[in-house]
Amino acid sequence: MTIRPRRSVLYMPGSNARALEKARTLDADSLILDLEDAVAPDVKELARQQICDAVAAGGYGHREVVIRINGLDTPWGHDDLAAAVKAKPDAILVPKVSKASDVFTVTGHMGHADPAIKLWAMMETPLGMLKAGEIAATADDRGARLTAFVMGTNDLAKETGARLENGRSGMLAWLSICVAAACAHGLAIMDGVYNDFRDEEGLEAECLQGRDFGMDGKTLIHPGQIAAANRIFAPDEAEVAAARDVIAAFELPENAGKGAINLNGRMVERMHADMAAKTVALAEAISGRE
Ligand code: COA
Ligand code: MG
Repeated sequence: MTIRPRRSVLYMPGSNARALEKARTLDADSLILDLEDAVAPDVKELARQQICDAVAAGGYGHREVVIRINGLDTPWGHDDLAAAVKAKPDAILVPKVSKASDVFTVTGHMGHADPAIKLWAMMETPLGMLKAGEIAATADDRGARLTAFVMGTNDLAKETGARLENGRSGMLAWLSICVAAACAHGLAIMDGVYNDFRDEEGLEAECLQGRDFGMDGKTLIHPGQIAAANRIFAPDEAEVAAARDVIAAFELPENAGKGAINLNGRMVERMHADMAAKTVALAEAISGRE
């Protein structure tokens, strides 16, 4: 089993050359080089050039590199997409995906571009919440590129009036619907950003909440947020040890024919051994890169 850790997914404005440079040394699992909301209209072209130069120059090591383009219905979207395809990042992040055809439109424009270039979808519109299952299902098609959902909680707040404060209670249904849609079709899913980047306690609470929802990681806006996300979205030592115990128990000859066993007073089923294998694979993938 191979798992790609996506505990910490850091956005940076494509217009900020210093951030693009600094990212080569930061301990984030993935980087989103942004052309959309973090870049003002009059520096869109400059940002596009800087991002493409940075991706071509490389040096990002194990970090997954993702370019977020402007929507195809904006003056910049088509040029962003063409430039991103040439730059060959690991993935292109498409903003405001609201229905399956939004994914097909982008893949259509990508044509025969390198199949290694995947698509990530921003889940951030009210319609996108209602159509999450249909959007995720595009991953099942032959030649599909969609591999991940990214929650856009700031846009959801803007479009609906639901608040980001108080445990995001107005958004819980959308977060869990998107997790279900992603899991139903084998996609990764990363939680939305925590804007108050000096508030460590608040960030930790929201990482824990996202983790408990089943998110693979969290999108971040500042390097100071990386360590908390890396820690909280990774299994800790005790979890890994417990997972190894479960795997070992099912490997014993006396348990070979059993579906459920007693492990130190707890019922453990074969599905727990599958979950344990995932935990161990994630832990190994993380330690393999450090
Ligand atoms: N990626 C990489 N480096 C970053 C960074 C990021 N997202 N945010 C800050 N840095 C760097 C700064 O360049 C600075 O580096 P230096 O000390 O080596 O010069 C260092 O981290 C400290 O930055 P700080 O002064 O604390 O923050 P700031 O006031 O310069 O910037 C923000 C604050 C919010 C404007 C900035 O963090 C940012 O642009 N974040 C990303 C926004 C974004 O992409 N939004 C779109 C998706 S929601
Ligand atoms: Mg957005």
